[in-house]
Amino acid sequence: MEDRLNQAREEALARIASAADVEALRAVDRDFVGKGGVVAELLASIPSLPPAERGAVGKGANLLKREIVDAIAARKAALEAAEVEALRSGAGFDPTMPGAPVTRGSLHPLTRVRREVEDIFLSMGYQIADGPEVELDEYNFQKLNIPIDHPSREMQDTFYCDADHKLVMRTQTSPVQIRTMETLKPPFRVIAPGRVFRNEEQDATHEHTFHQVEGLVVGKDVAIGHLIGTLKGFLREYFGRRLDVRLRPGYFPFVEPGYELDIRCPFCEDGCRVCKHTTWVEFCGSGMVHPNVLRAGGIDPTKYTGFAFGFGLDRLVMLRHEIDDIRHFMGGDLRFLEQF
Ligand code: PHE
Repeated sequence: MEDRLNQAREEALARIASAADVEALRAVDRDFVGKGGVVAELLASIPSLPPAERGAVGKGANLLKREIVDAIAARKAALEAAEVEALRSGAGFDPTMPGAPVTRGSLHPLTRVRREVEDIFLSMGYQIADGPEVELDEYNFQKLNIPIDHPSREMQDTFYCDADHKLVMRTQTSPVQIRTMETLKPPFRVIAPGRVFRNEEQDATHEHTFHQVEGLVVGKDVAIGHLIGTLKGFLREYFGRRLDVRLRPGYFPFVEPGYELDIRCPFCEDGCRVCKHTTWVEFCGSGMVHPNVLRAGGIDPTKYTGFAFGFGLDRLVMLRHEIDDIRHFMGGDLRFLEQF
């Protein structure tokens, strides 16, 4: 019996000493101290031994178990320390191997164009203004000269956020006009780019979420010529050349007079798909700020006048990159986004 204990000890300690990894140590644990392992077998054999030997074998087996468990723990600690040491020493590290590639994202085309538009207006002395996307009905409509029940509300299908229709997803960036008038003293020039939302049927040119850039200039003797000159200047910068514009009368309750401003098609001279063979492309709504709106913003319309415009940023990006469907912008398809 003494021999079997010694033999088991030698074998176990030799295997522990030569174990190359934690997995090998686990195998030693299983074979010697686990259920059905050597130690368990020794203990199980006790009842069949002569009574005089039983005590010594029991003790010896338990000691052996302790010894093996301790040896495994010590070897495990040594192996782990050696591993850390090896990593630290840099052995096996080849500095000439190519690095793991870093995959780089890119800015969304709307973000790029928004920044470009902001830069152009900043260079013309404008400030960038901002407003909430969940807006009070009061700002999105009422203070913009669109009273409750006014039929023009039906021009913009609204997502309402509460039961009594006080909160809306803003349908336009125009509420920023009011917020700006409430905080800045004239004269001032601002643009307010941002997301807007409409509860509309979606197709290649209509999305529930799209982007506008609002413009507002208020000061003494601001006139329609300033509006036209400003937008022409902007368009020249953006398209890199002069483009003719034309004004058509347009109805927006918050401007008077109001205009639709069109630009000559940037892609053709005598008609193409983009301009639907008219050579003109609709660009923005605009006009002189209605006196009621100035008043709602706390500005005296007998002292100051202003012009405002609002254009679609999505449209501008679509024109630049000849993108045929507005739904690509919010679609999240990487095959589309990776092209920019
Ligand atoms: N807010 C208008 C729209 O969404 C655009 C506009 C802005 C028109 C400013 C006139 C002045 O259609």
